[in-house]
Order: sequence, then C-alpha cells, then structure tokens
Amino acid sequence: MADTKVYRASTTAPVNIAVVKYWGKRDAKLNLPTNSSLSVTLSQADLRTLTTASCSASYTEDDSLMLNGELSDISGARAQACFRELRARRAALEAADSALPKLSAMPLKLVSENNFPTAAGLASSAAGFAALVQAIANLYELADSPAQLSLVARQGSGSACRSLFGGYVAWRMGDKADGSDSVADLVAPASHWPNMKALILVVSAAKKGVSSSSGMQQTVATSGLFQQRITQIVPANMKTMEEAIKAKDFATFAEVTMRDSNSFHACCADTYPPIFYMNDVSRAAIRAVESINAEAGKTIAAYTFDAGPNCVVYYLQEDESAILGAFTGVLTGVSGWKEGSAAAKSSVKLEDGIA
Ligand code: ADP
Ligand code: DP6
Ligand code: CO
Repeated sequence: MADTKVYRASTTAPVNIAVVKYWGKRDAKLNLPTNSSLSVTLSQADLRTLTTASCSASYTEDDSLMLNGELSDISGARAQACFRELRARRAALEAADSALPKLSAMPLKLVSENNFPTAAGLASSAAGFAALVQAIANLYELADSPAQLSLVARQGSGSACRSLFGGYVAWRMGDKADGSDSVADLVAPASHWPNMKALILVVSAAKKGVSSSSGMQQTVATSGLFQQRITQIVPANMKTMEEAIKAKDFATFAEVTMRDSNSFHACCADTYPPIFYMNDVSRAAIRAVESINAEAGKTIAAYTFDAGPNCVVYYLQEDESAILGAFTGVLTGVSGWKEGSAAAKSSVKLEDGIA
C-alpha cells in the first residue's frame, strides 16, 4: 500500500543583529561574503520565526512555502539550494538504511510565521532561513551540527548562518571557492555576558524599498569607500569586537558597534545611486543614544541599524532604567517619532540557542 502518511516537524529560530555587519558578496551563487561579521542572537521569547515543515507522498503540488499566510516564491536559487542540500543529506541516510521512509523524494510544505516585521531591517531573512533549515533538518532527522547547518542556511540568506547559534556569533568569511569554510562559529554563549540586553525601536514596519541582497550588490559594484571597509575597517572591527566580548568591555563593544553601523550606512550613501535605509526618526535615535551617554558620563548604550530604519540599542541590565527613561523622554520630544511612525518598543534578552 502506498505511504500516505504526513511527516511533520516544527522549530522556532531567533533573530540576530550584527554588531560588525555583513554587507557584500564575493560569490552571489554560493552566498559567500566579502567580509566576516559578528552578531548577537536575541531572545526567541520576543522576536522569532516559527516554521513547520511537512512532507508526504500524498502531496501532489511542488515544494511550497506559506509565509505569514501568503504563498511565497521559493523558485529562487537560494531557497532551492537549501532544499537541495537538505534532501541530499536525507538521501544519504536513506541510502545507508533501507528501512527509513524515503522522505527525500516527497514534496515539502513549509508554513512559516514571523512575529515581527518582515523585510524591514530586523533580520527576518536570518530567523526565516535558520528556521527553514532547522525545521527540515528536524523533519529529516539529520544529525548535522549547528555549524554544518549554518553552511546550508548561509545559502538561503547570509545572516541566517549566525541564527543557528545563540549568544555572540561570528560568521567567518572563509577563503575556499566552494564555501565550505564560510561558516558560523560561537564566540561566546549568552551566559558569558548575561546582563547584555537589546532595545528594539520599531520606527517603521514597512517592507524596505531595496532588499539587502540587491542593496549590497549595488554597493559592491559602485562604492569606493566599500573597498576600505572590507580591507581595513571590518578586519580591525572584528578583532577589537571579539576582544571586547571576551573581556566584557561594554564601552569598546559599544563604540565598535556604533562605528561599524555608521561605516555600513556610509557605504550605502556612497553607493551610486545612493541607498538610504535610515530616516529622520532613525537619526533622532542616534542623537538620543549620544545624549544618554553624555548624561551618564560614560558609554552605556550603543545603537545599530541593519538595512532598514529600525534601531537596536544594546545596553547592560544595570543601566536599563536610565536607557528606557531617557528614550521615552528624548524621543517623545522628537517630531516624527510620536505621530509618525510610532515606537513599538521592547527590550529583549539574549538567546541561549536554537530550539
Ligand atoms: P530583513 O531585513 O528582514 O532580513 P531581507 O531583505 O534581508 O530583509 O529579507 C527579506 C526576505 O527574507 C523576505 O522577503 C523573504 O523572502 C525572506 N524571509 C523572511 N522571513 C522568512 C521566513 N520566515 N521564512 C522564509 N523566508 C523568509
Ligand atoms: C545589514 O543576510 O539579509 O543585516 O545574504 O542577501 O540574504 P542576503 O542578505 P542578508 O544581509 C544582512 C545585512 C545586514 C547586516 C548583517 O546582518 O550582518
Ligand atoms: Co536580511
């Protein structure tokens, strides 16, 4: 009798927000970056993707993905690469054990939901592809390590490779042409620096005008400043940042975070034609962080912006009341913050690890 059983597995995956940013591909097909990057994984209690993967011989359609209730196009090379790699790993298990059901031959159905704005510069592609890969790996009962799965997730979206780990995570750019060494690795678990927190300021939940993939390709092709970023600025930032994290040196962590965000957005402005991800409200948030630090007489808050207007502020638990109080005070006085695009804000802890 034909096997009509539906096999199913679910996972959640966290967002990560880079403090040394990935921006630029040296190989768009394999999604290999022009520079290493480093991020902090945020708690899934606040921002997360929830993805369920199922497969069945009774499914008659091709592979599909429902994202936030709408059918999503997965015909692109990046999603296809993830499916191909995961199927190949499952097929190897099936070849070694003929008792295993032939899941690798069945159509896949994915249903995914983000509980935060999609394509708005809050790393939905990171949580999204990490969840997609982990959910299928769970379905296929693969024994691959987070590092091995990060190689697959990277091909879906670069930043996704870092969401396979909790805590402080580096994506080493690698130098092999096949990408086998372009992998995420754990710099320190969340427990190493447990009082680190992040405040998310949602300036706009709207979908960005220029996707990260397309924006960074334009920067690579046209920005002169970008060359200095990948050869000098990022290598120095990576080194200082790793040392700051190991030493739990917040002032240095914060300065590198803010400088690296500024350097990335300067490269966007140096792209021709220029790309602007930040808006007036984003710039007001930068000023607010500056006044918080000036008021405190030391650096207690660090802003960073991905490819979108939304602001993430890193700070330590002991400074929370100063940060939250000052943000409310400063930002309600900023025109555009109150009426404009509203400040849904949440403060979140760090994440210990996926699922
Ligand atoms: P972001 O700043 O949110 O990461 P990107 O431009 O990098 O924005 O990527 C947005 C794209 O990531 C979406 O258009 C979609 O293709 C993909 N994506 C987002 N969430 C998911 C998800 N849960 N599952 C699969 N793909 C997702
Ligand atoms: C600014 O990982 O979204 O958030 O690999 O093309 O999917 P693709 O790009 P993506 O780029 C992220 C850019 C960034 C910085 C970062 O997360 O490191
Ligand atoms: Co993204």
